[in-house]
Amino acid sequence: MSKNVEPLQPALIAAAQAVRENAHAPYSGFAVGAAVLDEQGRIHAGCNVENAAYPQGWCAETSALAVMVAAGGKRVLALAVCAVADDPVTPCGGCRQKLREFAADDCPVWVADMNGQRASFTLGALLPHSFGSGQLKVQLKP
Ligand code: THU
Repeated sequence: MSKNVEPLQPALIAAAQAVRENAHAPYSGFAVGAAVLDEQGRIHAGCNVENAAYPQGWCAETSALAVMVAAGGKRVLALAVCAVADDPVTPCGGCRQKLREFAADDCPVWVADMNGQRASFTLGALLPHSFGSGQLKVQLKP
């Protein structure tokens, strides 16, 4: 049974909204912020970082995961992503897979804009039948 992380949703969304302000997105003009909750209850935030050599840019979710790993976080218990668009912005396919490295199928993915939450998913719903360390028979350290 996974931890009840719902009470931390406002803080996670607020962190994603705040870090979105620092996005480096001069090419797309599409600023994104993301925040992950780790197994120690800490929040790690990151934004998208674009590059003049377009394919070298990366997503907000990737940044947030890197910040978590650098801080010693091992597991993602929830993720919030914040962007402003007509439809709610869910993590791209690559970021779903990156998240899958650290999160269980029931990990909530909260999608927000600057006004608050717009949609809620689980990682398993966004990336069903996914590939992970289990298929490689690698047991990740807790
Ligand atoms: N982007 C993210 O950072 N996260 C998402 O979930 C969707 C897309 C970024 C990548 C790029 O810098 C910009 O948004 C436009 O695709």
